[in-house]
Amino acid sequence: MVKTTIWDVREYTNNLIDYPYLSEIIATYRQGGLVALPTETVYGLGADATNEEAVQGIYQAKGRPSDNPLIVHIYDTKQLEDFVENVSETTERLMEAFWPGPITFILPLKPGYLCQSVTGGLNSVAVRMPSHPVARTLLKEVALPIAAPSANLSGRPSPTTFEHVYYDLEGRIDGIIQSTQSEAGLESTVLDCTSFPFRIARPGTITRSMLNEILPNGIDAMRDESIDKPIAPGMKYKHYAPETPLKIFERLNEKLDATQKDWSQTAFILPATLLSYIPKQAQTIILSETESDIKQANHNLYAALHQLDQLDGIAHAYIYGYPDHDDAEALHNRMVKAANHQFIKGEW
Ligand code: TXA
Ligand code: MG
Repeated sequence: MVKTTIWDVREYTNNLIDYPYLSEIIATYRQGGLVALPTETVYGLGADATNEEAVQGIYQAKGRPSDNPLIVHIYDTKQLEDFVENVSETTERLMEAFWPGPITFILPLKPGYLCQSVTGGLNSVAVRMPSHPVARTLLKEVALPIAAPSANLSGRPSPTTFEHVYYDLEGRIDGIIQSTQSEAGLESTVLDCTSFPFRIARPGTITRSMLNEILPNGIDAMRDESIDKPIAPGMKYKHYAPETPLKIFERLNEKLDATQKDWSQTAFILPATLLSYIPKQAQTIILSETESDIKQANHNLYAALHQLDQLDGIAHAYIYGYPDHDDAEALHNRMVKAANHQFIKGEW
């Protein structure tokens, strides 16, 4: 057990530089410590990406297989010169369009600067420049690239609140920076830029159509490739799963029959507009106001999965699948994994 320090920065979101304990956080990173930090996607578990021992510590704290490489977080594109072989003009255009923000680029690695285990022995490196004001100030002040996977135990849903991180990692890491709930709610889009056309290795908040707007024909058209044939090594592992067995439902046009079936051990995760179809005995968690608000569903998904596991006496749960939405690729990807590919077809 390690003593986990809590740094509550909620009052300093836009002026972290004035936070009285900022130097303590920076020193912890510089000494090879593990500190969870807020980002606009999910909370990350950060450590100095040039320090082998520190990065090993991340894998240990998460219980993560070490062949699953980490994302390196930067403040300024100048830092790329230290550890990226070259950035093509096309990649640069995407960086200009979306950085700082929720997209990670896989780039050719320039060896020698980052420690070995960050990249898991690959000759490429995943890099992201987060936009969260707390993360930006930290990255600027620490002046080191910070390796940061999502701050959850391996296999569990990613953390979008301080409480989620605390629940999984208290006693295993040196500190947690307490901020507000992550805005986007799903992890960054991972775009493989090491061959052309670029491939989406993990769908995320920056959607395929947003990428295509900047780079027509520049993104591989194949859909769901990441699910069948993982490009990002992490995609092959069990992910995002709540402890309660979960199934996806895509249609609900009439009230579920409460005379034939006992719904008291059932939970529904769904848009508020579908609440009237749910029997009173069941428990409910709201994911969005309407059936078309994908942004809100993204924002709330992981919190809903965490909440599900806190409910008492629930044996199974159903989640609304937001079918037929072009921009729901990331949401579908995470949901299908959380539900282990189980869909309701006909019988409940
Ligand atoms: O939003 C996010 O990306 C969050 C926040 C904290 O920035 N981080 C995050 O990291 O989700 P993580 O470690 O949970 O996911 C990183 C993904 C994994 O699927 C990993 O396999 C993939 O990126 N990845 C990392 N380096 C790679 C590389 N060189 N080639 C292919 N995939 C890579
Ligand atoms: Mg993760």
